[in-house]
Amino acid sequence: MTRLTGKTALITGSARGIGRAFAEAYVAEGARVAIADIDILRAETTAQEIGDAAMAVEIDVTSQQSIDRAVSETVAALGGIDILINNAAVFTAAPLTEITRADYDRAFAINVSGTLFTMQAVARHMIARGKGGKIINMASQAGRRGEPLVAVYCATKAAVISLTQSAGLNLIGHGINVNAIAPGVVEGEHWDGVDAFFAKYENKPLGQKKKEVGEAVPFGRMGRASDLTGMAVFLATPEADYIVAQTYNVDGGQWMS
Ligand SMILES: NC(=O)c1ccc[n+]([C@@H]2O[C@H](COP(=O)([O-])OP(=O)(O)OC[C@H]3O[C@@H](n4cnc5c(N)ncnc54)[C@H](O)[C@@H]3O)[C@@H](O)[C@H]2O)c1
Repeated sequence: MTRLTGKTALITGSARGIGRAFAEAYVAEGARVAIADIDILRAETTAQEIGDAAMAVEIDVTSQQSIDRAVSETVAALGGIDILINNAAVFTAAPLTEITRADYDRAFAINVSGTLFTMQAVARHMIARGKGGKIINMASQAGRRGEPLVAVYCATKAAVISLTQSAGLNLIGHGINVNAIAPGVVEGEHWDGVDAFFAKYENKPLGQKKKEVGEAVPFGRMGRASDLTGMAVFLATPEADYIVAQTYNVDGGQWMS
């Protein structure tokens, strides 16, 4: 379990959920990790729980100043960034006729601009450092197709897949691999929020949508954050050097592409 010994990673949105599982898996593989999150108190608790190889860093991926500060702090503390996971995101849902500009702007600012400009800031550092690097963006099965109530979130994740393709092609000449992971439905606080949206718009009792989507997964259950860590570790290792601009479905068989 030392595939990432000596490596450093900045993982956005890793105070909880899938990002936290990535941080734990990376530390278990020997990496040192910046738990970068807008929720700095929770990031600090998470970092303490993970141990000495983890540090908390405040980041709001909608603010260029905050991104730049978080990257500088991480570089100063860890000596450089070898791996970036753009994991921070928000979910939103509404029928098309009820989508608000505020909701659209917030989702795109976090999920799309946040991904692009964090990727840019870290890529500039990686290029200047001259050691290459690995960038992993969190897409979603939602980015593979539309959903009647989820136009905005689906569009943000389609944009993440597209940004991964362009950035992957642009940065591979610097030895920086950019790839993405597209999960299906994953247990956790995020999906509790998704379930609440569907309870409202599909008039279902709380927990009903979650049960239905879990049963519909070909594998037979919802995903767990731990189902995704293998791919996140693999994409950060030299074994994945020849993988460029791809988005991998890790979703129990939900989507084939
Ligand atoms: N859970 C799922 O079913 C699922 C499915 C497909 C894709 N995904 C994607 O996987 C990733 C992780 O999902 P999760 O379930 O762990 O989500 P989560 O909601 O549990 O965690 C998201 C984290 O991002 C942080 N965050 C929110 N806004 C931020 C900002 N402006 N700046 C910095 N941090 C911010 C939150 O504080 C939180 O810690 C997301 O990109 C999500 O879209 C999740």
